[in-house]
Amino acid sequence: MNRSRALAFFLPPLVLFSAIAVYHLQAIPSPDPVYKAIRAAGMMAYPASFLAIVTSAFPKEATSLSGESFLRVHHIFAFWGLTLMLVHTGAIWASFGTPAVLVPQSGTLREFFLFGGRVALPLFILTAATAKFGRTIKFWRKIHLLNYAAFILVTIHAVMIGTDFDSSPMRAMAYTFAAVVMAVPIIRFFRKRL
Ligand code: HEM
Ligand code: HEM
Repeated sequence: MNRSRALAFFLPPLVLFSAIAVYHLQAIPSPDPVYKAIRAAGMMAYPASFLAIVTSAFPKEATSLSGESFLRVHHIFAFWGLTLMLVHTGAIWASFGTPAVLVPQSGTLREFFLFGGRVALPLFILTAATAKFGRTIKFWRKIHLLNYAAFILVTIHAVMIGTDFDSSPMRAMAYTFAAVVMAVPIIRFFRKRL
């Protein structure tokens, strides 16, 4: 493994999205450290899951830029994303003091999307677990497609409920990420046929 090449690949997004999170935590201060953790983990988990999805459309490029196999690059972003999703959710649980924060809401469509993170989290866990441990399950790839739905749900959730996603630049980033993610299956389809 070429460590400096891998660092040059993984460090820029990590620094960029940490800087975005730090900037927002300063710009909209909160005295509660748990609330800060909720926001910071949400802001960092979101781009990591985005990068896990995008690398799947550019496996050769990800390998040549990082010097790592596609699967390793994909794993690193997936691990980064899932860990921070768990921190985000754990901090919300701690803040509200009840596991009820994990239960999806389907009273109205608005509630469903507002609390869409509660549906997205188990979807991300399911897709990652079946890919990692359930390779014998023939349809793991079909289950893996749920990642697209989970990402779109999270985008809507963040834009509707997020303190930091309430600004125009953050919304623009979220809409751009969602558009790119929707283009990924199309890019994969055409690249496979080449
Ligand atoms: C946050 C977690 C993850 C996300 C968001 C994610 C997302 C994706 C997406 C969107 C694709 C392209 C699927 C398609 O259009 O056919 C993909 C492919 C793939 N993922 Fe993941 N993934 C995650 C975790 C994992 C894990 C834990 C593994 C473990 C082995 C894995 C293994 C793979 C493999 C092997 C492919 C390539 C499949 C192919 O080329 O047909 N993924 N992933
Ligand atoms: C049970 C699961 C979840 C619950 C209960 C939940 C709850 C929340 C809450 C209460 C907020 C508002 C925090 C604020 O004031 O900014 C929020 C924001 C957010 N959540 Fe979730 N969430 C969950 C899952 C997820 C998942 C899986 C992701 C994936 C990345 C995610 C990403 C975000 C993002 C990006 C924000 C916006 C952060 C900000 O603007 O600072 N959430 N979530």
